[in-house]
Amino acid sequence: ERYFSSCQSLKGQRVLVTAGPTYENIDPVRFIGNYSSGKMGFAIAEEFASRGAEVTLVAGPVSLSLKDDNVRRIDVTSAREMCDACKKVAKDADYVVLAAAVADYAPETVAEKKIKREGTDGMILRLVKNPDIAATLGEAKHEGQVLVGFALETDHEEENAIGKLRRKNLDWIVLNSLRDPGAGFMKDTNKVTILSSSGERISFGTKSKREVAADIVDTITAKS
Ligand code: CTP
Ligand code: CA
Repeated sequence: ERYFSSCQSLKGQRVLVTAGPTYENIDPVRFIGNYSSGKMGFAIAEEFASRGAEVTLVAGPVSLSLKDDNVRRIDVTSAREMCDACKKVAKDADYVVLAAAVADYAPETVAEKKIKREGTDGMILRLVKNPDIAATLGEAKHEGQVLVGFALETDHEEENAIGKLRRKNLDWIVLNSLRDPGAGFMKDTNKVTILSSSGERISFGTKSKREVAADIVDTITAKS
């Protein structure tokens, strides 16, 4: 069955994938970021491309390169830049997969010059909320578009993931298992449960990120 579905062509289907962290500048040499490697999003972009889809990958700062030349890559730094790029590309996308670990907050102001430590005994950095890219695209979602998010939760995992799916108007949410030793930001493997807005729940074992990507693509492109 896997063999059959992997061979189904997604030719002509337009796909947007986000990957990696975002960096929110503090001053010219410092930022707020996170440990996302971008591997999961890159694997999803490459899996879609291998099936013939037209893929645009909006990538935060990562040290990865694409193995597939058929993917159009847009590099961004901050959540705002990622949001702007996604709004444009999502307009005519059939599938949108948001695998990026978007920073929730950014410094209210970016210092023009390097902040100096002398004469201070600490500092308070005021942060403002970043746009929610998933929710923004969820509001603008058009008929037939499939919108997929990710979640990583420390408690009430499925309940919280379903809450996000509803609030952001997603069709599917991929829940990363935090408890599994083979899952996580820097790893090459992952373990996921995929939940849908119509109540489906599919759990997978620990696999390479490329295999997880194939499971995700199979699941969200399967016609019911
Ligand atoms: N996401 C997004 N834009 C943001 C934050 C999150 O598009 N500013 C997307 C992520 O790419 C992911 C999904 O929303 O697909 C869930 O991300 P998560 O950080 O778990 O959700 P939050 O709403 O930020 O909730 P939390 O307070 O748990 O971080
Ligand atoms: Ca978040």
